[in-house]
Amino acid sequence: MDRRDVLKMGAVATLLAKSPLTLAKHQDDSADVVVVGSGGAGLVAALTAFDLGAKVIVLEKMPITGGNTQLSAGGMNAAETVIQKKKGVEDNWKIMFDDTMKGGQNKNNPQLVEILAKNSSASIDFLLSVGADMTDLGRMAGASVNRTHRPVGGEAVGHNLVHTLRQNAIKRNIDVRTGSKALKILSDKQGKVVGIEVEDRNGRKYKIQAPTIVLASGGFSANHERVVKYRPEYAGFSSTNQPGATGDGLDLAVAVGAKLIDMEQIQIHPTQAAGSKILITEAVRGNGAILVNREGKRFVNELTTRDKASAAVLQQTGKSAFLILDQEIRKSLKQIEGYYHLELVKEGETPQALAKACGITDGDALAATIKKYNEYQAAKKDEAFERADMPRPIQAAKFIAIEIRPGIHYTMGGVKIDTKTRALRAKDEQPIPGLYGAGEVTGGVHGANRLGGNSISETITFGRIAGAEAAAYAKAAKTAKA
Ligand code: FAD
Ligand code: FUM
Repeated sequence: MDRRDVLKMGAVATLLAKSPLTLAKHQDDSADVVVVGSGGAGLVAALTAFDLGAKVIVLEKMPITGGNTQLSAGGMNAAETVIQKKKGVEDNWKIMFDDTMKGGQNKNNPQLVEILAKNSSASIDFLLSVGADMTDLGRMAGASVNRTHRPVGGEAVGHNLVHTLRQNAIKRNIDVRTGSKALKILSDKQGKVVGIEVEDRNGRKYKIQAPTIVLASGGFSANHERVVKYRPEYAGFSSTNQPGATGDGLDLAVAVGAKLIDMEQIQIHPTQAAGSKILITEAVRGNGAILVNREGKRFVNELTTRDKASAAVLQQTGKSAFLILDQEIRKSLKQIEGYYHLELVKEGETPQALAKACGITDGDALAATIKKYNEYQAAKKDEAFERADMPRPIQAAKFIAIEIRPGIHYTMGGVKIDTKTRALRAKDEQPIPGLYGAGEVTGGVHGANRLGGNSISETITFGRIAGAEAAAYAKAAKTAKA
């Protein structure tokens, strides 16, 4: 066990000790809405359904809530927001729509993308209203303007977001059960959802009767076997995800006849710190870092979409590369302090010294690369790779390098849903009565490649829709029974 594992275990123990959510009971029960998964999509669906009067139970198989959402870093994309307006950024939902479709190679479901983009500003308002901090604004790859929202100073978005959603769940006394794995969706002869079978932390099985289930169980990037089944070329790649991201929700949905789409669309993120599971956020490039290869040369537009950036890294010597930045970029993004803390950073007073420290073979080439980049930055024109946004030069010593390689990050495919987040049947694409899906467990929003920042946006917007739809369905079911 190395120092990072010890730090992680310490953080988990602290959370467990502090969280009243872990005291939830595990017994046969009933609810209006059962939410499977306690990441962004699940917690937002739960809050929304609860606020509409539904009795809600949230199931989380891991010992703590938060899922991959807890790890999310660079931020949340949204267009036409109060924050953008305050900072004078001109944007609109159509530009976000176009960027998302282009980034997804037009394989996205345009109706879902329209919902994502049109509702993104209201989702920021929702988060601000429940106490989240979304006041810093930056850019992630594939975006035409600065629309990535995150906490002040460029802190990681996930910690603030999940903390806020957890506190709201606690305030409402919502029944959130950690260590509780959804095993099987129960349905009647007509295929209508009637409940769910659960396994508690002691291995005991029990049932919850409920007319609606919201699947918010995330993706499957941590399930190496499943990833390689769809993309054999990713065998041996490490994953950026939390260990619970195994894709259980897909099996639960398929067992009641749901359709899966785009399963082979699996995203590798270009910048996972070499030799670790730590993601180096795209925001580092968004705030000005460049990528160079082991020979000290740039090889790609650092703000191109992830599919292209990852493919370019894999063509370099050793299938890895180096993020190069300086102290001003460091100051602009608090998350970089975390990489220092995790000892992922090398420094040098000069590019040549940095090259020596990090294993770049040609220090003079690195110095020339940085000099040329700074000229492009000053002229606002990248003649080498047409990078559109170069917010800062790289000149404030000490220079900084982080070695990176691509890692399995996000699964674009999943349960097919309609615009009301209803899960659709494989046999006729009609809704499965009572089954809803939101977040990474679903497919269709991102097509062949997701843009950085669009997943958190998706979880909030579609989580809100799923929570509202499920609550309304449960209410109607109750009225019909009475
Ligand atoms: P999750 O947050 O993963 O939650 C799903 C939950 O369901 C998990 O807690 C899981 O344990 C639980 N679960 C699974 N199966 C079961 C079961 N059978 N029973 C009960 N519970 C179950 N996206 C962005 O837009 N911006 C970012 O800055 C960003 N940064 C990221 C950084 C990292 C390191 C990672 C890994 C991802 C990042 N992403 C980012 C992607 C984004 O965080 C996720 O796609 C998103 O949070 C998924 O949210 P979700 O609610 O759908 O699922
Ligand atoms: O690089 C990142 O911060 C990750 C963002 C994302 O997956 O959207």
